[in-house]
Amino acid sequence: MRTYKVAVVGATGMVGQRFLTLLENHPWFSVAMLAASPRSAGKTYTEALNGRWAMPVPLSDSVANRVVLDAEADAEKIASGVDFIFCAVDMPKDATRALEERYAKLECPVISNNSAHRLFADVPMIVPEVNPQHVQVIDAQRKRLGTKRGFIAVKSNCSIQSYVPALHPLMDYHPTEVLACTYQAISGAGKTFASWPEMVDNVIPYIGGEEEKSEREPLKVWGTVQNGAIVDAASPAITTQCVRVPATDGHLAAVFARFSQKPRLDDVIARWKAFEGEPQQLKLPSAPRQFIHYFEENDRPQTRLDRMLENGMAVSVGRLREDSQYDIKFISLSHNTLRGAAGGGVLMAELLAAKGYFD
Ligand SMILES: NC(=O)c1ccc[n+]([C@@H]2O[C@H](COP(=O)([O-])OP(=O)(O)OC[C@H]3O[C@@H](n4cnc5c(N)ncnc54)[C@H](OP(=O)(O)O)[C@@H]3O)[C@@H](O)[C@H]2O)c1
Repeated sequence: MRTYKVAVVGATGMVGQRFLTLLENHPWFSVAMLAASPRSAGKTYTEALNGRWAMPVPLSDSVANRVVLDAEADAEKIASGVDFIFCAVDMPKDATRALEERYAKLECPVISNNSAHRLFADVPMIVPEVNPQHVQVIDAQRKRLGTKRGFIAVKSNCSIQSYVPALHPLMDYHPTEVLACTYQAISGAGKTFASWPEMVDNVIPYIGGEEEKSEREPLKVWGTVQNGAIVDAASPAITTQCVRVPATDGHLAAVFARFSQKPRLDDVIARWKAFEGEPQQLKLPSAPRQFIHYFEENDRPQTRLDRMLENGMAVSVGRLREDSQYDIKFISLSHNTLRGAAGGGVLMAELLAAKGYFD
């Protein structure tokens, strides 16, 4: 595999910082440029961070003194200097959409963690183990945008990364109704306890826009490609409650599911243990060896103990039981800024690189 030069746009943010730690020794991708808002532009990365480094590993010398570019004003320079960009910015939706489209039209592919393009039918929203076949809509998107190389591919919302992978191996039992309550870490809001002290010893029962995304996005991920567009799956019906809890990282979900054909519990466990997707088959560098880990212990998975399983790229599941109202219920957990954001973005980029989309 050749190596690709990349820029991280939104490099100073929570997800951007994760990208930098994951790309530090990446075998295929090397960070050539960093970009953020005009507030950071022209400063070294350390100056721009201004104490915001929130990663559990020290800031690397390879980026500390790099000068941060302006994502908008320097777009042409960035697009011509790298093979593709990772984009994770906190901007109004319209501005994010315009920024991402601008890079794509400058023939620079965009791997996005933002929600602005998630519901476009010709923009693939990829969980690499679940719907890698959706990359094929990129051809239609390139036609719409009038590009040869440029395109946008997006990550789904971090909240769905715990329960969609766990339900996916059960799809041929035809889930009809799913109820998921998520217990989401503060890094999902780009925050730490230092920057959000109100979250210490507290639970906040509202995350703006999260329930709508959590109910809608799985249907696109499970959708089918028809004439260059992704058509959402018609079922299952999904209802959610998303709650912010005082954990640094890790989104945990309590899931209830009803199926048209009720699976036996031991079949569910066997499906989870046997499941692998293209990332495992292609041995992509960031792919977890085992995507879904099933815990027998009653008190697992736990956010703090289990979020870093397989470098934060695996999904852990436990407490599988029959339910009195639904058919089954279980708990699932994924790391929101790794599998749910930057790690999932890097894995998606590896999938696209392996399929030749950056050449
Ligand atoms: N945190 C998560 O777990 C998570 C998971 C999935 C998806 N996401 C999504 O990822 C994106 C970033 O989230 P985050 O948590 O990393 O946010 P964050 O920590 O608030 O960081 C926001 C980043 O956006 C940059 N930015 C703000 N305005 C900009 C502008 N006008 N032009 C260019 N860059 C600008 C900031 O640069 P400055 O430092 O210069 O202001 C910073 O680098 C959001 O769309 C979020 O929904 C987050």
